[in-house]
Amino acid sequence: MNFVAALSETAEKNLRELEEHIRQAISDDAFIFEACEPLIRGGKRLRPMLMLLCANAKTSCPNERTMPLATALELIHTASLVHDDIIDTSKKRRGVETANSKYGAQIAVLIGDYLFAKAFQLVAENNYDGRVQAILSKLVKNLCVGEIMQDRSLFVVPTMTEYYQRINLKTAIFLSSCCQLGAIVADIDSRDGESLAAYGTSLGLAFQIIDDVLDFVGDEKVTGKPRGGDLKSGVITLPVIRALSTSDEAPALKKIVTGGAVTCTDIDAAIEIIRATDAVNYCKTRAEAHIEAARVNLPSNLKTSVGLALEQIAEFVVARTR
Ligand code: IPE
Ligand code: IPE
Ligand code: MG
Ligand code: MG
Repeated sequence: MNFVAALSETAEKNLRELEEHIRQAISDDAFIFEACEPLIRGGKRLRPMLMLLCANAKTSCPNERTMPLATALELIHTASLVHDDIIDTSKKRRGVETANSKYGAQIAVLIGDYLFAKAFQLVAENNYDGRVQAILSKLVKNLCVGEIMQDRSLFVVPTMTEYYQRINLKTAIFLSSCCQLGAIVADIDSRDGESLAAYGTSLGLAFQIIDDVLDFVGDEKVTGKPRGGDLKSGVITLPVIRALSTSDEAPALKKIVTGGAVTCTDIDAAIEIIRATDAVNYCKTRAEAHIEAARVNLPSNLKTSVGLALEQIAEFVVARTR
């Protein structure tokens, strides 16, 4: 499961412990466990991993202090995916059937709500300071605003500024908050905390750009989610924006992506048009530029093992296939 080769033994151990905490967190109710266990199993754990690494960036931070928050971050992320899949009527997530497909949208909404609530319960019961609650609430609010923005402009080509606004709100702020929270729980000085947060923001922008690319070129067996899902639900992302400005077949592409009812044949045609342009490489180059910015922001005085792992995460974000 792990994509960071340079993870220290302690970091590996922490991630294994996290899995136990996550299972525990969904065990209060039999139905919730049955519904969530398969769904929660396949994630990359990027968000809690960032938090745990940042919390241990200078000196080691006790797991009693980090685990409830790391668990809460993964629960919040999973809750947002459960709701995202209802919105997109998506059938597959993390390689398994989505909650909406299995139980219907009504139950899926409540499963997502439950996971959000459980995350905030963990935080409330573990004596985190007010800043932690404020950052978590803000990141969820921003994620919602990002998703709402996106949903209010389906089948409409966003400007570059609108696209960036959206990916910042729904993804970059989340990743940045994970880094910031790690710094806060470990009492890392605010200057380094801000640098780690800036690393997270750039990482998050790159992460979402690559996710948007994978929607066109990814292998469903590897990503665990359907290809072409964005186009089908009317979400227009960077590869399309780029192809629309460079392709000879831009009018045909525009007709498909703004048409309102996208069929499987349309999706295949759009993918073909996009692949014939430089859109994928263009997006990767942009993502690489954000990754470079992320690297520049990494403080130089981190524990070697943590600095290395954060560097490798940055590398993984552009090279990833899942
Ligand atoms: C998916 O996030 C949602 C995005 C922000 C692109 P991940 O790619 O981190 O999903 P999991 O946790 O590995 O399933
Ligand atoms: C991120 O964007 C979703 C959330 C912030 C919940 P996507 O809509 O691209 O995520 P996937 O592709 O469905 O995982
Ligand atoms: Mg989605
Ligand atoms: Mg996506």
